Amino acid sequence: MRKKIIAGNWKMNMTPSKAAAFLNENKAACESDTADVVFCVPAVDIIPAVEAVKGTGIEIGAENLYFQDKGAYTGEIAADMLVDAGVKYVIIGHSERREYFAETDETVNKKVLKAFEYGLTPIICCGETLTQREQGITIDWVRMQIKIAFLNVTAEQAKKAVIAYEPIWAIGTGVVATTEQAEEVCTAIRKCIGEIYDAETADAIRIQYGGSVSAASAPELFAQPDIDGGLVGGASLKPDFAKIVHYDEQ
Ligand code: 13P
Repeated sequence: MRKKIIAGNWKMNMTPSKAAAFLNENKAACESDTADVVFCVPAVDIIPAVEAVKGTGIEIGAENLYFQDKGAYTGEIAADMLVDAGVKYVIIGHSERREYFAETDETVNKKVLKAFEYGLTPIICCGETLTQREQGITIDWVRMQIKIAFLNVTAEQAKKAVIAYEPIWAIGTGVVATTEQAEEVCTAIRKCIGEIYDAETADAIRIQYGGSVSAASAPELFAQPDIDGGLVGGASLKPDFAKIVHYDEQ
């Protein structure tokens, strides 16, 4: 039985002092006995966020990392810096990074390998545009993203990975994918992992849905057999996130 994982992605929101205040106010409500709960936060928020959730079951994640160990890469953040700061998870290949910061499937793969090398759990994002969905190539597209992201990743590593299926047309739009649309793609992703590795790996890997998840839509989405939780943007900046974490108690 896979444990659910419900992660917030704060994107470029929250100053360090606001991050600490928000977590101190909401951490008790966001703790869960049944799901892993993670807040992925801007780099400067990491240290106060780790401090704020100390002693709870909540983990802090980063929103990005660089695929080199260290050196002359102004503005980038290395895996060992994240580990030393207390980070456990790192989002890799979010569609906003692909669109605005020229990330490619190849750089995503390098970052995934670097995350595993340092013991960080990658939350690997994939998902189609509206045009791709309308053209009927969603599954082919997402399979390609997954196959490249997992190049040279071992089965043991893949079992620990988290994949976030985030249809780009559903991100920040208030248009959530239907339960059937989300489950169909998450099932296809699991099948793809089964083809790359084996049934055991496909069964172990956790696949989230992301894109306008709210307290209202979470219960039905997260109840699907192949959806193991969510990657939540806007709603993770509000106390409502606790309702999403406790989606099964509403
Ligand atoms: P929203 O929940 O704001 O649509 O964002 C989703 C997302 O991009 C999470 O990574």
